[in-house]
Amino acid sequence: MVVRGLAVVSRKPSRRPRLQRLRVVVTAGPTREHIDPVRYLTNESSGRMGFAIAAAAARAGHEVILIAGPVHLATPRGVRRTDVVSARDMLDATLRAVRNADALFMAAAVADWRPALRRRDKWSKSKGVARATLALVQNPDILARAARVPSARGRRLVVGFALETRRGLARARSKLKRKGADFIVLNDASALNARRSSVIILGSDGTCNRLTKRSKASISRSLVELLTRTRRG
Ligand code: CTP
Repeated sequence: MVVRGLAVVSRKPSRRPRLQRLRVVVTAGPTREHIDPVRYLTNESSGRMGFAIAAAAARAGHEVILIAGPVHLATPRGVRRTDVVSARDMLDATLRAVRNADALFMAAAVADWRPALRRRDKWSKSKGVARATLALVQNPDILARAARVPSARGRRLVVGFALETRRGLARARSKLKRKGADFIVLNDASALNARRSSVIILGSDGTCNRLTKRSKASISRSLVELLTRTRRG
């Protein structure tokens, strides 16, 4: 211990682990898949989960890039945000950002399908035609693609989400493998637009952790903690 004037400076090593400032990419919100200039396909995602993760990661001292679909949410403090519209825009932005990232949290509700054709002009009704068909093509799987991007910064943590209405555990386990994620956060439809939810975090190492009736901020802190623990281990 050194005493300088009235100040006492302890030389004892701190018990708290030194904060490692990591680069974290988070995707959030829905995507919009345009049919024509004024109509599109989308889903119910509010973006709250992804925004909460971005906020928690920034508060933990990490450098955060938030790739957001169309949502009405304010950018969390200390977070760099890129707005995107379609799944293909999100794919481009994610692949660009993830190369130099230590972690990816893929919380976006990416539209699985997009119209095979985006009409240049408004799709008007034809007289006497009471039925129409919309041809759809599958969107790329952003999580699976991003998980395969080689890392410029050592081991990268990849976390996906799964919202299931039946056979949740089995489906989430299969997504974990199929998409090459380290963890899948499983929730059900009650999580949509909700302030509190229950999730199960499944790890590729066989772990299974349940968080019950927690706020999205609290779930986010646990997810960010996962990143710190994985790095230390
Ligand atoms: N996801 C993605 N790209 C897609 C679809 C999903 O990156 N085109 C990501 C989501 O962000 C989420 C995870 O994959 O982290 C699981 O999403 P989900 O919609 O449950 O999976 P799907 O592959 O779309 O499977 P399903 O057939 O059940 O819709």
